[in-house]
Amino acid sequence: MALREVRLDGDPILRKKSRIVEKVDDRTKMIAEDLLDTMEEYNGAGLAAVQVGILRRMAAIYVEGEAQVVINPEIIEKQGSITKLEGCLSVPGFCGEVERAEKVKLKYIDVEGKEKEVELVDFEARAILHEIDHMEGILYTDLVIGELYSEDDIKFEGEE
Ligand code: CO
Repeated sequence: MALREVRLDGDPILRKKSRIVEKVDDRTKMIAEDLLDTMEEYNGAGLAAVQVGILRRMAAIYVEGEAQVVINPEIIEKQGSITKLEGCLSVPGFCGEVERAEKVKLKYIDVEGKEKEVELVDFEARAILHEIDHMEGILYTDLVIGELYSEDDIKFEGEE
């Protein structure tokens, strides 16, 4: 298990574009493991490689409830729209409302180098759209509707 340091808003690397992964090799697999470990350690809903300083198009997300790494993710279809609170491990302590598609069809390469296609809805759709934005140097704070809230002021579903 290897944790990586999460880069925070203000770090210029977060504004750079990530490159396509040309080949899934041992190094790709090592990065994938570290992304999963780091996402789980910080209870993230997703983590893009750029957030740990690696400018490759890779992200850890949840696909049908299971944590996994997607490589070169591409949205090939979008449906609906839903506005919900969103946060980011690179912007700790804050959250804000962002409008995203409700359902997406995602194409990606898995850590075995296999091409996959999957439909994601609601929370999981939101997460991959957020991570693909990271790969373009976009933070959710660029897209927030209204103001950014401090997490201390917000009660999340299920919390007392
Ligand atoms: Co983020």
